[in-house]
Amino acid sequence: MITTTSMKTHGCGEITKNEIGKEVTIAGWVSAVRDLGGIIFLEIRDRSGLFQLVSDPQKNPEVYDVFQKIRDEFVIKATGIVSIRPEETYNDKLPTGEIEVYPSSIEILSTAAVLPFPLNADDVSEDVRLKYRYLDIRREEVLKNLKLRHEIVSTIRNYLNSQNFMEVETPILIKTTPEGARDYLVPSRVQPGKFYALPQSPQIFKQLLMVGGIERYYQIAKCFRDEDLRADRQPEFTQVDMEMSFVEQQDIMNMVEGLLREVFKLVGYNTPQKLPVITYKEAMDKYGSDRPDTRFGLELFDIGDIIMESDFEIIKNTLQAGGIVRAIKIPGIANYSRKEMDDLTKLAISFGAKALANIMYLEDGSAKSPVLKFMTKEQADKIKQRANAKAGDVIFFVADKPKVTYDVMGRFRLYFGEKLGLINPDDHALLWVVDFPMFEYSEEDNRYVSVHHPFTMPNLEDIDKMETDPAHCRSIAYDIVYNGNELGGGSVRIHSPEIQQRVFKALGLSDEETKEKFGFMINAFKYGTPPHAGLALGLDRVVALLAKTNSIRDVIAFPKNSAAKCLMTDAPATASEEQLRELHLRLTTKVN
Ligand code: AMO
Ligand code: AMP
Repeated sequence: MITTTSMKTHGCGEITKNEIGKEVTIAGWVSAVRDLGGIIFLEIRDRSGLFQLVSDPQKNPEVYDVFQKIRDEFVIKATGIVSIRPEETYNDKLPTGEIEVYPSSIEILSTAAVLPFPLNADDVSEDVRLKYRYLDIRREEVLKNLKLRHEIVSTIRNYLNSQNFMEVETPILIKTTPEGARDYLVPSRVQPGKFYALPQSPQIFKQLLMVGGIERYYQIAKCFRDEDLRADRQPEFTQVDMEMSFVEQQDIMNMVEGLLREVFKLVGYNTPQKLPVITYKEAMDKYGSDRPDTRFGLELFDIGDIIMESDFEIIKNTLQAGGIVRAIKIPGIANYSRKEMDDLTKLAISFGAKALANIMYLEDGSAKSPVLKFMTKEQADKIKQRANAKAGDVIFFVADKPKVTYDVMGRFRLYFGEKLGLINPDDHALLWVVDFPMFEYSEEDNRYVSVHHPFTMPNLEDIDKMETDPAHCRSIAYDIVYNGNELGGGSVRIHSPEIQQRVFKALGLSDEETKEKFGFMINAFKYGTPPHAGLALGLDRVVALLAKTNSIRDVIAFPKNSAAKCLMTDAPATASEEQLRELHLRLTTKVN
């Protein structure tokens, strides 16, 4: 496609050898000026690519005069006939590397001050790049990511449109959506003392669209969550949000697999026809994570039964108090020094463990360990057998509350996966995790909270456990995981007001609270609700992973930093007295 406007006939990168002998007009930024004492070469850049302009004072002194004034990043426009370059000056790094133009006319459209950082330098701090993000976007690397994001979004829209989905926008100023993070609040001027919340997701609205009969909805939706930020979390981010009526879990999985097949094709990966499915329990037991990276082994294993037979009292007490023990075998590191082993203990402690036990299998076949004194030879042999350990291997294990044990061992596993180079960066591990628990106990809130959100359907086999044994009640919720990252999650929703009430009760919400928070939704569900289910993909994560970058900031045009600040505009900013008065607000903390 050729991008023509009234100011240009071609994009700089769109001119080919077919245009040799023809006149073109191009416009863009000057990315390099080379003055070879007599002849000046300019590299001109626009979104489509780079092109070389040349001026020779003998041939066209007027144009040469203008060339002499041009500096990096000036915006210029040039017209001239495309010619072939002398063969010895071909630049095989550029698609336009065999052609050039000696302009017959040239115009400076805009001058440019010296940039705060050279665009081609790679040691510029992220803070500086974010402060001048509009310049950063001129860099090939950022532009490439934004282009990929655009292609992914357009592929998603095409696919879902072809599957009869309707894109519907939902509001941004809302009441609240319970996704478990803190809300961003917006004070109301016209209703003193009242606040809107920004949506953590369109969850409630998409379910109400199902009550409204839309049947297949999607939206590329902005979501807002006031949570602690990490490389894969932003305060505002984008979801590919979808919902379908008259479906079960498998229908959503099939649809999302079809969608991801098209998306992954963009980077040359043909996803398998059916993706692997593992249960939450299996994921935790084998990988210590509900988003397992299955590109490598190092699976965890249980040695609790063997320890219970032993005299290892500290760990037996932990197990008796509801704890678990999980072990991992790391091959070929039995030659680690004492310091290296101590550092691993420190690492496990930094992950949250109280201690890390190890058994080293030396070259002479003997086992060396500070914990074997608590065991008989038979018990030690059983552990060795279970691990299938050989000379050179080391077994590590941790006993603690399940959450801590899984988390520490899961992270320990990832640490060694990377350290031992077991992860092939060209591998893809796309899979489903299903059968998530319905509730988890929150020490902070002193009650059970939803693992997904309160509209998630409990597994019908476990439904009575909601009241008697909430910790073991499974839900019909699923996540899609790629290379150890949660790409998206969803669930089958409750469409029966009775089950919904039971869930609210299990969450410890009183009738009044339920009515206050979700009254409109419970009410809506009285008027004929189709069975429905859905899922949301984190678009920023999808793009970042396909772009092979580890920060979603790299694929967002104007991201915030880790303090939720926009370094370019300085948001958030203070409000004037006048604004605060209008909003009926008074600050209790002095700010500068
Ligand atoms: P969930 O909360 O799992 O589900 O979010 C879905 C996906 O959104 C992405 N995501 C984020 N990306 C960047 N920054 C963040 N702060 C952030 N938080 C979440 C993740 C995640 O998998 N309404 C439900 C979906 C449903 O049930 O249909 C929901 O929002 O990739
Ligand atoms: P000692 O300090 O000689 O009694 O030995 C205790 C051993 O048990 C040390 O090697 C500890 O690392 C290990 N240990 C103690 N508690 C745990 C635990 N919760 N998980 C794993 N190992 C433990």
